[in-house]
Amino acid sequence: MKQITLAGITVPQTAALAPMASVADTAYRLLCREHGACMVTGELVSAKGLCYGSRGSAELCRITDAERPMGLQLFGAEPEFIAEAVRRLLPFRPDFIDLNMGCPVPKVVNQGAGAALLKTPELAGQLMREAVKAADGACPVTVKMRTGWDAESVCAAEFAKRMEAEGAAFITVHGRTRTQFYSGNADWKPIAAVKRAVKVPVIGNGDVTDGESALRMYAETGCDLVMAGRATYGNPWLFAEIEAAVSGGTFTPPDAEARLNEMLRHIRMILERSEKSERLTMREARKHALWYLKGYPGASAFRGRSASLESYADAEQLVRDYLAYYAAQ
Ligand SMILES: Cc1cc2nc3c(=O)[nH]c(=O)nc-3n(C[C@H](O)[C@H](O)[C@H](O)COP(=O)(O)O)c2cc1C
Repeated sequence: MKQITLAGITVPQTAALAPMASVADTAYRLLCREHGACMVTGELVSAKGLCYGSRGSAELCRITDAERPMGLQLFGAEPEFIAEAVRRLLPFRPDFIDLNMGCPVPKVVNQGAGAALLKTPELAGQLMREAVKAADGACPVTVKMRTGWDAESVCAAEFAKRMEAEGAAFITVHGRTRTQFYSGNADWKPIAAVKRAVKVPVIGNGDVTDGESALRMYAETGCDLVMAGRATYGNPWLFAEIEAAVSGGTFTPPDAEARLNEMLRHIRMILERSEKSERLTMREARKHALWYLKGYPGASAFRGRSASLESYADAEQLVRDYLAYYAAQ
């Protein structure tokens, strides 16, 4: 397998897992690493929240060795908070610290952070400069950006060059503008433009859904690594599929039973790591459960029952019932 080195981190050139707040938590990241994700990033953390000692923010920074290489991601728009937050992240020994310049949600952009920084490149540059200074060589600082604020202001290459000049060790580009949120198709052309514009490694992201699209992302953008997000929902096998595609191997998709066994294991991983009661934790686990049978007969009834799971025993019963139904098809 071909290896690639980004910011001193050497990984197989397969696919990284995208950061996804409220989805890609510790259990999810571990599962994806086991299935071949070559690198992961934590859920976005508020720089201010971390500086004010928010317990929730600090909890998002925990890294277990099996997750590595793993980055931690910050959002914020104030240089002094970003710098202090970077210093507070260092004891968690992240493999890289990523600055979020792509989050589209109003709560984030209304404070001038996330994708709003695409409209204030000078401030974005200052944030990167301060973050790199605060990391003091102990940890690479990177950025994850969108292609622009809206279709009229796509600025990816220029913006990426500024990030590189301020010390970004690699740059991840999601091929959508802020106003697109997650709709429409990702535009990979600005990713290719970023790759041509900078010398640091570039990670391409947006609409990588299978082995074929991963190969296309590599070929069309020249990116150094691809990153996948939503296509991993209930489908950690995506990483094995991409690995097979890039190495010319074959990939055999899991059957219904293998999918459901992995779903149960995923739920156990969530329960083992939760400090909440089984009932409350199952509420968070439900969304993962209902993703596992996408496209299968009876998937909508399965989703309906997944949405009301109250215990692990309920999940086991659901799996038994589904497999009996499936065998009778
Ligand atoms: C539920 C959800 C949460 C996300 N949270 C983050 C985040 O915390 N930080 C970030 O940089 N991007 C976040 N993203 C964006 C993804 O990392 C990724 O850029 C986007 O989903 C496009 O990739 P995909 O088409 O492979 O899903 C999130 C996306 C989703 C769907």
